Amino acid sequence: MPFSVGDERAIVYAEDKQWYTFPIHLMPFMRGSITLTNQTKEALFVMSSNSFEASQKRSEAIRADLEVNPGKYTMLTGDRPTGRLHLGHYFGTIKERVALQNKGVTTRVIIADYQVITDRDTTENIQDNVRNMVIDYLACGIDPEKTIIFTHSAIPALNQLMLPFLSLVSEAELLRNPTVKAEQEASGHALTGLLLTYPVHQACDILFCKGNIVPCGKDQLPHIEQTRQIARRFNERYGYVFPEPEGLLNDDAPEIPGLDGRKMSKSYGNAISLSFTAEETAKIIKKSKTDSERFITFDKENRPGVSALLTTAALCAGRTEVEIAEEIGNGGSGTLKKYVTEAVNEYLAPIRERREAIAAKPGYVEEILHEGNRKANEIANKTLDEVREAMHMVY
Ligand code: TRP
Repeated sequence: MPFSVGDERAIVYAEDKQWYTFPIHLMPFMRGSITLTNQTKEALFVMSSNSFEASQKRSEAIRADLEVNPGKYTMLTGDRPTGRLHLGHYFGTIKERVALQNKGVTTRVIIADYQVITDRDTTENIQDNVRNMVIDYLACGIDPEKTIIFTHSAIPALNQLMLPFLSLVSEAELLRNPTVKAEQEASGHALTGLLLTYPVHQACDILFCKGNIVPCGKDQLPHIEQTRQIARRFNERYGYVFPEPEGLLNDDAPEIPGLDGRKMSKSYGNAISLSFTAEETAKIIKKSKTDSERFITFDKENRPGVSALLTTAALCAGRTEVEIAEEIGNGGSGTLKKYVTEAVNEYLAPIRERREAIAAKPGYVEEILHEGNRKANEIANKTLDEVREAMHMVY
């Protein structure tokens, strides 16, 4: 029984002429010639399905390996174009994408336009949102020579993967995804078929380009797990086509709170958009709610407003919250807000300058997107051909 050993998983070519992957720690029990019964296969699924800690460990291992072997990795991640990118996106993920790109990882970024209609009934402003998302990406350092930027709706072969992939998941598995449930509740919208199945659509996003790392927060882990399961099941049924991607957890990324201390989100009105002018930035910071205590201290629990301002300033100025708080001391929230405004505007100045230059070039953004979509289509068509072949659907 020949096998090859990857980082954490072994791939076994078993008696029934299928490939199986399973956690490496099971290897000692599988020596010799074994036949995988259906029961064993079930057990392997269970054992290889990750607990959070296992995901975290693998994520850490990949982070270390990325420094040595960036060429082994293909990153796929993206955003839904529902509004402008803000500082939360920047510190949470955009910075990391740029770093991975510049390390030599193969990088792809999807603007998930079909995901917009998972929980809303209109595509109003979508064109403008997509355009501005491209501008934000480029201004932040995503280089279209290195990173493919593309949209769902322009890549038919990506979307076609949805059909075979949907056959690989059960209704119960779809309904069990805690992130989908939470998002549906937060949206106040009915659970549409697309919202229920969007993790499968994300699997299409990741797997069409054989992405094997997905930078993400913990809330995305259930989706990654579904993607891994889909890849595994496809490979087991039809022969090896897809890698099993790993979430690259952004545990270490600083979390920048919104101006009120809650999660930064456009819908809370607490977000500083990258595209704001310096004046708009000053205005939203000025309006943010602090408290009546004059002396400035960093205390997230009891002083969410003041502390959110301190964290914002700290990240932009490259200092610690406590340092800034001590410096301002009795200056009160007026002085603090002035400090934060200057720190943010100074930090964002080069990004905003690049934004303006990019937006001013006629046809430039459209060209980047056309080129990204063209390249993504090439990859998607090739993968779909492999899928047709594996499924014996070549006519
Ligand atoms: N769901 C992600 C968001 O909420 C966007 C997204 C779409 C994505 N497809 C993806 C992220 C694939 C990672 C991998 O912004």
